[in-house]
Amino acid sequence: MLKNKNVVMYVSGGIAVYKAADLVRQFIKQGANVKVAMTASAQEFVTPLTFQILSKHHVYTDTFDERESDKVSHIHLADWGDIAIVAPATANVIAKIANGIADDFVTTALLATTTPVFVVPAMNSHMLENPATVRNFKILEADGRFVMEPATGFLAEGYEGKGRFPEPIDIIETVKNFLVTQQPDLPLKNKRVVITAGGTKERIDPVRYITNDSSGKMGYSLANAARDLGAEVILVSATQQLTEPFGVTLIPVNSAQEMLEAVMNEYAQADIVVMAAAVSDYRPKEQAAQKIKKNETTMTIFLDKTTDILAQLGQQKQHQFLIGFAAETHDIEKYARGKLTRKKADMIVANDVSKSYAGFNKDTNEVTIFMPEEQPVEISVRSKQEIAIRIFEEAIKRMKK
Ligand SMILES: Cc1cc2nc3c(=O)[nH]c(=O)nc-3n(C[C@H](O)[C@H](O)[C@H](O)COP(=O)(O)O)c2cc1C
Repeated sequence: MLKNKNVVMYVSGGIAVYKAADLVRQFIKQGANVKVAMTASAQEFVTPLTFQILSKHHVYTDTFDERESDKVSHIHLADWGDIAIVAPATANVIAKIANGIADDFVTTALLATTTPVFVVPAMNSHMLENPATVRNFKILEADGRFVMEPATGFLAEGYEGKGRFPEPIDIIETVKNFLVTQQPDLPLKNKRVVITAGGTKERIDPVRYITNDSSGKMGYSLANAARDLGAEVILVSATQQLTEPFGVTLIPVNSAQEMLEAVMNEYAQADIVVMAAAVSDYRPKEQAAQKIKKNETTMTIFLDKTTDILAQLGQQKQHQFLIGFAAETHDIEKYARGKLTRKKADMIVANDVSKSYAGFNKDTNEVTIFMPEEQPVEISVRSKQEIAIRIFEEAIKRMKK
């Protein structure tokens, strides 16, 4: 979503300027090109050199410092960007943008900006609640600017309140979501995608359970990818260890039974269902109400089979495109093809979890996609985020048929 996007970051003078330095890094990590402009007040907190090193570009601070004779730098910068982000945005700079004031580099370039402008306010809670600031937010929104909600927490002044600069990763997610809404022609626009993630937990007693090594990373990457491709995403998650993806509806579950119920509730309205969770095949026949005490040298736990969610979805399939996952350690094609037929899936994404760079708890994966009456599609090792996009690309091609 942010790959090769030109981001112009306008930094104004609040205590959160140091966090803006990390935000530059995060944008670059997402593949964006970043150029920075700073107000005079912002330079009281952090020097332009920091932003120059991080962005690998000259930092703009002075409207009249025209380095290239064939360009007017504030106009050139405004035109260069695909998106402008004011972060942190002081009460002062917000008031200026709302009123069309252009008295330094930042505000002059912003007045010349025709691309989407994303504003990240950060200030003391009393400044935030001041009627003038509230009025300026309304003007910005009426002018089509996107104003991000500040975070609540411990302020630099030493008390709790609203006005903190949000975590850079949350800003990135919000920007991505905002960009999705700006693009009318995304391939999964108006599609509802249900994704399961994580390893289910089957209780033995109040303090013990049976689970597996699934981290949920593949499912969460799929949720982010589906959202970036324009879908409305429902993420049925059996893990609480990962950051909730922005712009996705999260349904937390524990057991295979809870996951089954959550998925079946969503099934009729779903266009695509991706079963990326590692669902327990068995659960203890009985769950002890109290902690089981140690007494015998051995103990036996009787297990019952859980409902096979993918098979159930296959049986009740109407218009839905059904994607299953197969985590195997051997005979991958045999098992994946068997699963494809038995479960009436449209696609089985198989991975060899015995490989050091693929499968459970890794950030990378290597998969082979099996589809009925087709040659398998192999996707070589890459990040789970990239694999997720490729899976949806293959699904979209088949859905159109
Ligand atoms: C230590 C310190 C911290 C400040 N933090 C903020 C802040 O978080 N948010 C804000 O709106 N203003 C803050 N200010 C006030 C702004 O720096 C001041 O309004 C300035 O004129 C803003 O200029 P600019 O909008 O051109 O960057 C702070 C000032 C000082 C001295």
